[in-house]
Amino acid sequence: MDYQFKEDFQWGVATAAYQIEGAWREDGKGENIWDRFCHIPGNIAENADGDVACDFYHRYQEDIEMIHKLGIPVFRFSIGWARIYPDGPDKVNEKGMAFYEKVIEELEKYQIKPVITLYHWDMPQWLQDIGGWTNRESIRYFTEFCETMIQRFEGRVDKWITINEPWVCAFNGHYWGDFAPGLRDFSAALQTVHHMLCAHGSVVRLFRDKQYRGEIGIVLNLCPKDPASEKEEDREAARIDDGFSNRWFLDPLFKGTYPEDMIEWYTGHQVVMPAVREGDMELISQSIDFLGINYYYVEFAKKCEGRWPLYFDTTTKDYPITAYGWAIVEEGLTRLLMRIHREYGQPRLIVTENGASFADVIEEDGNINDDRRIDYLKRHIKACHKAIEQGADLAGYYVWSLLDNFEWSTGYQNSFGLIHVDRRTLDRTVKKSGYWYGKVVSGNGLTDEDKMG
Ligand code: FCB
Repeated sequence: MDYQFKEDFQWGVATAAYQIEGAWREDGKGENIWDRFCHIPGNIAENADGDVACDFYHRYQEDIEMIHKLGIPVFRFSIGWARIYPDGPDKVNEKGMAFYEKVIEELEKYQIKPVITLYHWDMPQWLQDIGGWTNRESIRYFTEFCETMIQRFEGRVDKWITINEPWVCAFNGHYWGDFAPGLRDFSAALQTVHHMLCAHGSVVRLFRDKQYRGEIGIVLNLCPKDPASEKEEDREAARIDDGFSNRWFLDPLFKGTYPEDMIEWYTGHQVVMPAVREGDMELISQSIDFLGINYYYVEFAKKCEGRWPLYFDTTTKDYPITAYGWAIVEEGLTRLLMRIHREYGQPRLIVTENGASFADVIEEDGNINDDRRIDYLKRHIKACHKAIEQGADLAGYYVWSLLDNFEWSTGYQNSFGLIHVDRRTLDRTVKKSGYWYGKVVSGNGLTDEDKMG
């Protein structure tokens, strides 16, 4: 084996509730912000929605059995908050709870370890109606919801992830407006980040105080931000993009401060700074058991006049791209892991998402030979191996995603799955990449000639 991983390295697959579950108003589930956002015409490609999605709500047994058959030991999934608290913070919907109980039982049957994301963007609409993450009360409501879940399932869940990708939730959801809840206010987005980070810290504190079993961490989407050229203005654009996308999250979590240069930049460009209360930064920077990193691409920043408030734009340079338009640069992953290792106190890391969207073709014999996806995954798994060799404390790698699913504003136009889902019949077909990944897992690594046998 050319790229052998340690015995206890955790291989997994990742998913999220709204993207796969469907059953949007079954068993007492309340409306969430993605239901609302998708049901407004024009928000999503082809006006798609997650009403049915992959129907995981009814097909979880079949899907978990497939994870088992492929031999994948970790399943990352998220909890639909509005299934648990449909109409308000007071009453738990036991039917919603029962669904997750069944999912966990099914995983236990095959000894697949559950990794649970507590927030993967589907806030209940009742909470959005009073301001959502822009309202400081969201910290309390989120903590209560998490307490309900953790109390119920602790000891049976390997890892808890408080929040998935606060950057996307804040800026796509509250500044660009292409994700739910569809707002367009930069200052509100920054306030949202602050409340999400506090909410994360508040759950970590609860977890420690109550001495719950298991591990707890957060997931960030991170990527190297390189200058598009050697020009000084592009170097500055890259620094600003890095501050905006990476350091604005890593610094508070690991150093207890927002980056000085970005505070200066924002205040110099009419952005209202988030209201930070005494104790907030200590709350945010409590120690976590792992940092989850979702890695997909590298971006190249160039100065761009007229683009308030950050004044940069990004390109993919000459790199090959996926169907999503994301540059394929695997060395960026090694570099990113090493940077965090060096600059943020050598935390334990897990790649909680990595994968690629390509248009798949179903051959006449019914097979899906997605060699480009295999190539992408192979390159990135090697990049992980390299980082470990260089000293990074990388404990696991999860592929995004198990199934072709609802990819947010792009609807069903981007498929990341190891398993194809027929949009009409919802039938599942394991792709070549699924079988290939199963082999990587069983061999605990890969060889350079790694071809499908
Ligand atoms: C990440 C999300 C995940 C999925 C992938 C492609 O930003 O966490 O839900 O959409 O991108």
